[in-house]
Amino acid sequence: MTDRKATLTFDDKTLELPIYSPTAGPDVIDIRKLYAQGNVFTHDPGFTSTSSCESTITFIDGDEGVLLHRGYPIDQLAAQSHYLEVCYLLLYGELPTKAQMDDFESRVTHHTMLHDQMTYFYRGFRRDAHPMAIIVGVMGAMSAFYHDSTDINDPWQREVASIRMIAKMPTICAWAFNYSSGKPFVYPKNDLDYASNFLRMCFAVPAEEYQVDPVLAKAMDRIFTLHADHEQNASTSTVRLASSSGANPFACIAAGAACLWGPAHGGANQACLEMLREIGTVDRIPEFIARAKDKDDPFRLMGFGHRVYKNIDPRAKVLKESADEVLDLLGVHDNPTLQVAKELEKQALNDPYFAEKKLFPNVDFYSGIILEAMGFPTSMFTPIFALSRTVGWISQWGEQLSDPAHKIGRPRQLYTGAAYRDYVPLSERG
Ligand code: ACO
Repeated sequence: MTDRKATLTFDDKTLELPIYSPTAGPDVIDIRKLYAQGNVFTHDPGFTSTSSCESTITFIDGDEGVLLHRGYPIDQLAAQSHYLEVCYLLLYGELPTKAQMDDFESRVTHHTMLHDQMTYFYRGFRRDAHPMAIIVGVMGAMSAFYHDSTDINDPWQREVASIRMIAKMPTICAWAFNYSSGKPFVYPKNDLDYASNFLRMCFAVPAEEYQVDPVLAKAMDRIFTLHADHEQNASTSTVRLASSSGANPFACIAAGAACLWGPAHGGANQACLEMLREIGTVDRIPEFIARAKDKDDPFRLMGFGHRVYKNIDPRAKVLKESADEVLDLLGVHDNPTLQVAKELEKQALNDPYFAEKKLFPNVDFYSGIILEAMGFPTSMFTPIFALSRTVGWISQWGEQLSDPAHKIGRPRQLYTGAAYRDYVPLSERG
């Protein structure tokens, strides 16, 4: 793969480490033999300089603000493709033909129902439980219902598990929402497309016919598309780490969803909208910017900053336009939250603190405004992110299992605790 080598010299040792050149992005130094040959570890908390796997799925150029799925830029996919086609692309590597797309869509559509006994899981939760608490539990519980797709060594079972998770996530999330609002569970309807079906399951009631607004369905589909995958982020790395032990696919995806829930990751969309509401009016923005810059205040501008993007997140650009479109189409004019968001973005981008640290709006900055306008409570924002990202998790999970180089993930540590010491019986301690 490479003839280039990096030379590492320390104490009386010199080690030669292979350098790989990826299709795009910075070169990678292979340190796998470092411990065996040099008796040293590298130390990289938060993995800021560490590649954990070889992947062909998604590429991010954080400096340029570029996101590619299988080589295709996200703005083109958001404008010209649709979520299930992007799912196909992520899973299988190429855009589908018409026949392949029809077959894939049909397979997903015919797996949207949940085993009916799963309704008892929902009923075991408190009504006021956060939907993510329910979703993480129900996703994990899928391994108790779909035994015939938990053998990770069987490619057919892996395929069935993948389709099942993409197909059932809208039902799982919508039912968590139904349950929290005291409504009966709404079953999927096979003549609707993926996004329309989700909207109907969230908002329909049995007493009335529900017509899905095609504009909202399009906006929903775009939100799904923009969140479909994002390289080796925290939740995807969690899925890969869980899977490295041979855990079943449902357990791995549940682990990813649990990680996504945190406010520094997929929970940021809820936190961002709550922050925008708390700011309330544009005249209060300077006060919040000052707090975000204050080292002694833990407050951060939610929806701002990213580990990889040091430029505007390309997904935020698309969502900013979508926010205007959706609010216009819903007849919501002069939405105060959107006004605060736009002015906050402007003031932060003109502030040297944010410029120097290269902090730009991320995908969560505008998504909450759209979801709120569509009628979702903030507690449903992270579940919608989890639904969208399920395909990314599964694609990365499948890729890892097919990679002959994959091993159980087992990081080491820089130990700074007590050195060896003998136990002192309680009676002898002072
Ligand atoms: N507001 C104010 N200051 C910030 C922010 C922010 N949103 N984000 C980063 N900074 C500052 C940090 O205080 C730090 O300053 P210092 O160098 O003076 O100590 C510097 O910028 C670098 O920040 P780190 O936390 O070290 O960067 P990291 O890459 O670890 O964190 C993260 C990235 C977690 C996304 C961070 O920017 C953040 O907390 N943002 C707000 C939460 C958010 O929007 N998360 C969603 C991310 S996108 C996603 O998961 C879908």
